[in-house]
Parts: sequence; C-alpha cells; structure tokens
Amino acid sequence: MLSLDLQIREKCKELILSEEQLRQLMKTFHNEIIQGLGKKTHDNATVKCFVTYVQDLPTGKEKGKFLALDLGGTNFRVLLIELSENHFEMKSKIFAIPQHIMLGSGEQLFDHIADCLAKFMKEENIMKERLALGFTFSFPLRQLGLTKGLLKSWTKGFNCSGVVGNDVVQLLRDAIKRRGDISIDIFAILNDTTGTLMSCAWKNQSCRIGLIVGTGSNACYVEKQKNAELFDEPDAGSGQVLINTEWGAFGDNGKLDYIRTQYDKNIDQDSINPGKQFFEKMISGMYMGEIVRQALERFTKEGLLFGGKGSDLLFTKGRFYTKYVSEIESDYSGVYTNCREILEELGLKHATEQDCVNVRFVCECVSRRAAHLVSAALCTLLNKMDEPHVTVGIDGSVYRFHPHFHNLMMEKISHLINPHLKFDLMLSEDGSGRGAALVAACASAKKR
Ligand code: GLC
Repeated sequence: MLSLDLQIREKCKELILSEEQLRQLMKTFHNEIIQGLGKKTHDNATVKCFVTYVQDLPTGKEKGKFLALDLGGTNFRVLLIELSENHFEMKSKIFAIPQHIMLGSGEQLFDHIADCLAKFMKEENIMKERLALGFTFSFPLRQLGLTKGLLKSWTKGFNCSGVVGNDVVQLLRDAIKRRGDISIDIFAILNDTTGTLMSCAWKNQSCRIGLIVGTGSNACYVEKQKNAELFDEPDAGSGQVLINTEWGAFGDNGKLDYIRTQYDKNIDQDSINPGKQFFEKMISGMYMGEIVRQALERFTKEGLLFGGKGSDLLFTKGRFYTKYVSEIESDYSGVYTNCREILEELGLKHATEQDCVNVRFVCECVSRRAAHLVSAALCTLLNKMDEPHVTVGIDGSVYRFHPHFHNLMMEKISHLINPHLKFDLMLSEDGSGRGAALVAACASAKKR
C-alpha cells in the first residue's frame, strides 16, 4: 500500500503534461488557427481568429486626450488618458458591475456603463468636451470594422440578454443617447489582448503578441494580411493585421479531451457557459482556484488529506480563491506560513505539516499545467510567425501575481520554440486602458 503522500502524487499525475502531450497540442492548435483564418472554414472553426481591423502599431508619437472604457476583467474602469510623445498621463476610476447587471439585460448593462462614464466625466470636469473614446470590450467579437463588432458569445462571468449577435458599439451609442447629457465619439472597439499588444508596442517595437492570463485567457498576434482571409479592407495598408485568436475556446470541439480531467469536466458543467471555453477553463484565474479546491475536496473525501476531515468552506464551490494559489506558492520552500493561514481561514486548523506539503503540491500541479498550456499555445504562434525576435506583451492577474508563472513560461517556451527564434515576455502596464487610447489615437489620426 502506498503512503498517503505517494497516493496523492500518483493521482495528480493527470495534471502533469508531458512534452509530447504539449507538442501534440501545438500541432492541433496550429491547425485550429488555420481553420479560423480561412474564409471557407471560419464558420465552423472553434478558434475563431477574429480580424481586429487594427493594422498599425503605435510609434510612440501619438498625441491627444482620450477617454477609454475597459469592460471584461475583474473590474470595469473608465479612464482619461493624455498622450504626448513618449509620455502619457492617466486618470482612472473603477466601478463595480453588480452580479444582477452581469446577468441582467443588455440595456441595463449599457445604461450602467454610460452612467459610470457620465459620472467620471462630471468629476473630471469634461462634460462639455467631445472626446474620442476607445472601448476595450474583452469578449469574442466578430468585427466588421474598427467601430463595429457583433458579440459572438459571452464568456467569463457575463451573460446579459439581448447582446449576442448585436453591434456592441451601437448598444453603447444608444445608451449614451438615451441619457442625452454627454457626447462622445467612439473611435475603436478592441479586445484586451489588442490593448495589451498596443501598449507594449508603444515602448517596444518588437512586440507582436498580446497575451492575457487573468480572469480569462486569450492572445492576439500580428498576421500577414494575405493569411487573414476574412479581412476585406480594400487598401492594403501596412500589409498586416492583428488577429484576436479567442483561444479560450480551443478544445470546445473535443480536441483537448486527451488531457481534460474530471475536475475540468466538473468546472465546465457547473459554469454559466457549459460546453464553452475549455482551454480557458484549464488556465485562467476565474477557474484555477476551483480546480485546486476540487482536487482537495476529492483527496479529503478519500481520506488522503486532513485526516479525512474537511470543512464546510473547503466543500463550498468557489471558496478556494485563485489568489490563494499564488499566496501558497509564495511561501519559501519548506515554510508554510501563508498556507497555514489560508487553511485556518477555511476552517482546517487541524491541518498537519504534511497536509501543507500536499496542498502546496496540488497548487503547483494546477498552476504549472496552466503555465505549460499557455506556453504551448504561445509557441504555436511564435513558430507560425517565424520572426527572428518577438516580444510578448502580457497582462492579467495570474501572470502578474503568481510568483512563478513567468519563469515557468520562460522555461517551457525555450523548450518548445523553434531553436532559431528568440522571444521575451514583458509585463504590459495597463494595456486595456492605454491600449484603447492608442488605438483610438491611431484611428483618429488616420481620419484627419
Ligand atoms: C475571454 C474573452 C476574451 C478575452 C479573455 C481575457 O477569453 O472571450 O475576449 O480576451 O477572456 O480577458
């Protein structure tokens, strides 16, 4: 009979991905991207690879005063950004989006957004100005232009009625019109990955990929215009266009079944969007803590943890926060201060030292798996782009706060990338806000 620890280790093996499994994933993912980009295959593709209509990367010379909205992460924000050459200033305010609005009607949602915008403008004393606005809307959008995008489906915690299939820019314009007290020019709607890429490229000319590992996970990259078959702009512009991959949906057609575990299946079934966003559900901050909790609940019920005695909180769905994973893994090796504190908070005062070792081990398996999945998908893009040196701009709470995520990614990408290619990973400061201003700036400059 194996010791309890060894039994836990044995049962966690399904969370550890071999290089072979990751290479298989890269092959499949590459194929899914091709399907998304192709005119004939796009409609049935799982990884949609939406065209963003952003063609030019910033030069650092953008100027002007812009408003930005950022919806789709943990918080909703309104921002005022002043760009000048190689310098910017920014003011922002966070507003809550209450649960009943996240799950209410589209009209309620956009009225709320317009209300927050008006409040912010009042506070900043810019009610009378007519400013250009960039709207970071971090959900899958089928874009028909820089200021027109139809929502494909809600992801993460949102599910507002009457929005899917509609032009989100128009819904925002309508809400602003209903109020009648502010006037705004919406110059661009963009994804947070696009914003992240733009704000990183503003400083760093080699930035060609924007990545989010936060509440959700997704990436966008610079593609040759000729490969983006759905891009219908007549004038060739820069010959390139940003593609929003929406890689969170990777696997929704069963292609990841060979690595999905029972935990992943449970999470999907309990979510508000079952059958959707399988890749995202294995990676992002909205789900990571819950994967750990499910494993801990199982091991406790099997008598392998906490002497078989759990607690109500440990057995409560959603109660093991993703930030706990980062905190537990921030303890120095051999020390379990954060771990103990969290277990006590969960009513597990009776945890032994060995329980702490095991809890930490489970956290490591889950976060490493996430880092390795992201790395493999990222490498697929890097290898496909085949540019000698690419900087990846990254944002999101998991990448930002997990103590080892960056290093795990560096290590895994180095193994999986084609040997002649170089890359680096750069934290992108406030991409969703500043990126929106940059896209709006590029668009308004073009119009003038
Ligand atoms: C979800 C959204 C996607 C966004 C990502 C990160 O996957 O569908 O648009 O970029 O979350 O916020």
